Amino acid sequence: MLIEALSVIPEIFSPYLDASIMGRAQKSGVFEFAAHDLRNWTHDRHRTVDDAPFGGGPGMLMKPAPIFEALDDICSRGPMPHVVFFSPCGARFDQRHAERLATKERILCVCGRYEGIDERVYTLADDVFSIGDYVLTGGELAALVLIDSVVRLLPGALGDEASSVDESFSLESGLLEYAQYTRPSEYRGMGVPEVLLSGDHGRVDEWRRRNAIERTARWRPDLLDQADLDSDEWAFARSILRGELSD
Ligand code: ADE
Repeated sequence: MLIEALSVIPEIFSPYLDASIMGRAQKSGVFEFAAHDLRNWTHDRHRTVDDAPFGGGPGMLMKPAPIFEALDDICSRGPMPHVVFFSPCGARFDQRHAERLATKERILCVCGRYEGIDERVYTLADDVFSIGDYVLTGGELAALVLIDSVVRLLPGALGDEASSVDESFSLESGLLEYAQYTRPSEYRGMGVPEVLLSGDHGRVDEWRRRNAIERTARWRPDLLDQADLDSDEWAFARSILRGELSD
């Protein structure tokens, strides 16, 4: 997969994408990354990419021309990319979006800065994503979030195959992941649920399922409607929602 970013701060991507799992995934050819400087598609001495909004108001907007021209250029080289924009007004980015994007051959992340982008630019977008209900100073962090979540789904990106198996279990079930523990079994007075030390895989699976339901009911009750629960599990989830079981 080829992933590209268009930004006025193209140097911001490599410290993250060249390190650790992302760095290894690039070195082993799982994905290629290139960042493009939007100012390369300006024509004035100051390499201007922004202008004041029509109708007045504070702040500056990104001008349409550099972005249109950049996309004309970048898209003409190689296969047509899937073009993603970032904005707090976009669709909330989630794991299903990451899975869909992981099937693309080429993704281009267009990162806005300043107070926003001229609305006409969004006609170029295949997707517009928000990563949450808060306002960032630009789309670069959102692009990094998207890239990380997509790359880790690509074959060969994660060394440990088991971690993606467990994860898909939790996603298919629509529940948050269960609690996990490692050695030591006692730390600062805190133990580990006895069943996890028992070696009984059936009981471990049962505990994990119930723990996932409990955590989802406590922290993300909004997910329960989409989760695949049987009637006993619903009764259990409702008891958590009513606050009947507490730590
Ligand atoms: N740009 C500014 N804020 C953003 C957000 N929350 N998500 C995506 N892009 C953004």
